[in-house]
Amino acid sequence: MGEKAVTALRHLLSPGRIGSLEIRNRLMQSAMGTNLAEPGGFFGDELVAYYEARARGGVGLIITEAVAVGWPQGAALFNQIGISDDKYIPGLARLAGAVKQHGARIALQLHFAGINAARDMIDGRDVWVPSMPLPPKGRGFQGALYPDERALTQAARITSPPRFREIGPEEIAQLVEWFAAGALRAKQAGFDAVEIHGGHGYIIAGFLSRGSNRRTDDYGGSLENRARLLREVTEAVRARVGPDYPVWCKLDSVEFFTDNGLTSEEACYFAQVAEAAGADAITASANHDISVARGLTSSYLPHEPAKLIPYAAAIKAAVKIPVIAVGRIDPERADQAIGEGKFDFMAMGRKQLADPDFAKNLAAGGKAAVRPCIVCYTCFSKAMMASPLRCAVNADLGYERANLLAPATEPKRVVVVGGGPGGMEAARRLTLRGHKVVLLEAGSELGGTARIAAIAYEPNGEFVAWLKRELRRQGVDVRLNNRADVETIRRLSPDAVVVATGAIRRAPDIAGKELPHVHDGQSLRAMLLGEEAAGAAGKAGLASRLALGAARTLGITSSPDAVRKASRLWMPIGKQVVIIGGELVGIELAEFLHDRGRAVTVVDDLEQLGRGLSPARRAVLLDEMPLHGIAFHAGASNIRIEGKTVALTDNGGTAQTLPADTVIIAKGAEPDTALHDELAKAGFATHMVGDCRGVGYIIGAVRSAADVAAII
Ligand SMILES: Cc1cc2nc3c(=O)[nH]c(=O)nc-3n(C[C@H](O)[C@H](O)[C@H](O)COP(=O)(O)O)c2cc1C
Ligand code: SF4
Repeated sequence: MGEKAVTALRHLLSPGRIGSLEIRNRLMQSAMGTNLAEPGGFFGDELVAYYEARARGGVGLIITEAVAVGWPQGAALFNQIGISDDKYIPGLARLAGAVKQHGARIALQLHFAGINAARDMIDGRDVWVPSMPLPPKGRGFQGALYPDERALTQAARITSPPRFREIGPEEIAQLVEWFAAGALRAKQAGFDAVEIHGGHGYIIAGFLSRGSNRRTDDYGGSLENRARLLREVTEAVRARVGPDYPVWCKLDSVEFFTDNGLTSEEACYFAQVAEAAGADAITASANHDISVARGLTSSYLPHEPAKLIPYAAAIKAAVKIPVIAVGRIDPERADQAIGEGKFDFMAMGRKQLADPDFAKNLAAGGKAAVRPCIVCYTCFSKAMMASPLRCAVNADLGYERANLLAPATEPKRVVVVGGGPGGMEAARRLTLRGHKVVLLEAGSELGGTARIAAIAYEPNGEFVAWLKRELRRQGVDVRLNNRADVETIRRLSPDAVVVATGAIRRAPDIAGKELPHVHDGQSLRAMLLGEEAAGAAGKAGLASRLALGAARTLGITSSPDAVRKASRLWMPIGKQVVIIGGELVGIELAEFLHDRGRAVTVVDDLEQLGRGLSPARRAVLLDEMPLHGIAFHAGASNIRIEGKTVALTDNGGTAQTLPADTVIIAKGAEPDTALHDELAKAGFATHMVGDCRGVGYIIGAVRSAADVAAII
């Protein structure tokens, strides 16, 4: 174990306690729906393997995904786990046993959805709510979906309008009983604790918030009344499991974008109510109005690192029991905050998905040893789309049982061509499986097109940097400045070749594309990364060329991080920018340039922008960017560059002329199978990974690398 790393994270890696429960460190896995349940709400082998992998990875405690206390009633996901009957106990017991044998603790999250009970809407049951819902302010997540994606969602399975029902005393008593019975079953199944889900707008949170509770009975109005259901549930659970069994509540510490939403002061009061009712800890999360798309990444799934810490700290100051903080918290920040008494445990969602060995790797090598989450919201989008959980950077998520990294039966000599994320990931995985790998990269740096993606969006760069470190750590034979052809490969006499040379980028035929202020992917990449590509020098102008030359001499262009920082000071890109192309690359670039003071307009002939972004991130960006002043013209036609303007016909049929000091064409990547085909023809056992087989971005590169590496 790296002693420096451990000393630096003294608080985070030291044992903690909740009630009678000792936990080996302060790291927890937060509850996350997986959609990996077996039909009927049962735990199966797939899910057990998923959780076991994370327990083996060193985390102190795992909180299960939300488990439906009234299953199927009140289930938010069609494919949710249930605990409404004793028949669930054996499967749950198998899970608890599998996790505990690795020294991790496991808590079960008790859940009843209320307003979000998709399963009730699909099955045609009444949907239980505190008060009848108000009309939505927007279309939230659903609004940004493509028709093919919408067809996959739970909403697509709802055939008649949901029947909301304001629940009365009988249903409330039933709810309380379901939670208590669920808690007892969890205890009988061998779970170390239960977490009552009292947040995220689900039924208990629905009662707590003035935004969703307009009742006039004993459960509405005053703070005390709104807290009644939380108190009754917590007391009933406590009474059923006995005084020593660890029980805690997940509560919203604040609500964003919500009319009459929960305030931090109210949240502190509710935490005190839970404490008085017998809770041993509070998980401090947050909520938002789900009809506001940008709320998605502003509350319980924050994009802003550590955004919820001040709210967790407020709760910590209001109660005597431990507080579990959550929401994109950096380990160093968590360690410091624990030391300062702001909270006691750091729960992680996405970090645990991206790296099941997060805790072990952190302890051994610090943050640099952990595979970073690129904050792309693929995982959450999958949950929202009723699809099995997947992660962009961790192809093993949901495939733990298949063990794609099992040692190869016959170690082979493999040449990987191309050092982008696909090639690097293939090389990493092949090496882990015991193959001898040579990686050939034509350029002078690893990273491929992801290096430019890393400039536009920082987390991509962290992933590329991690891949590089891993290859170095594994001692993979990486040969830069090596352009591969049949002859080079023949000299290496490999048993298999993996071609990961990326897409071919040809700017589509747009009138005016040859003008000096117009950049395509190739020239932009050359300009920002200091590469010698045709067109870059010609298009940059003298001052830009001199500055770029200086940047190159200083080595700035070899690091995406340095380019990103330097670009805040100077960039050969005019004040008014038009980006032609509104898929992932164009959108990320628009955000990046806007952030650097440029006035940006994105135009595309596509009707809906954001293809390539996960639906959740797309929904947020398309909602947020116009508020930042970024303009869109989707569904435009007759797009052409005329001097320092871009002319088009908008989707309403009106001619538009947009001023443009710089035009960037972010379109035109196509698969490129040429090298693969040549090698196959020459008789090599050849495989393709990444964009050369069809543009799939980082997630496609990582997935294809895993699939190919598993069959060699
Ligand atoms: C795929 C996914 C599913 C989630 N499902 C749940 C859930 O079932 N119950 C819950 O309380 N929170 C759920 N959350 C929220 C997480 O518990 C956590 O609060 C959130 O991911 C923020 O933590 P992070 O920034 O470390 O990811 C989910 C998050 C993700 C990414
Ligand atoms: S899918 Fe994206 S956001 Fe989710 S854990 Fe993986 S990298 Fe992070």
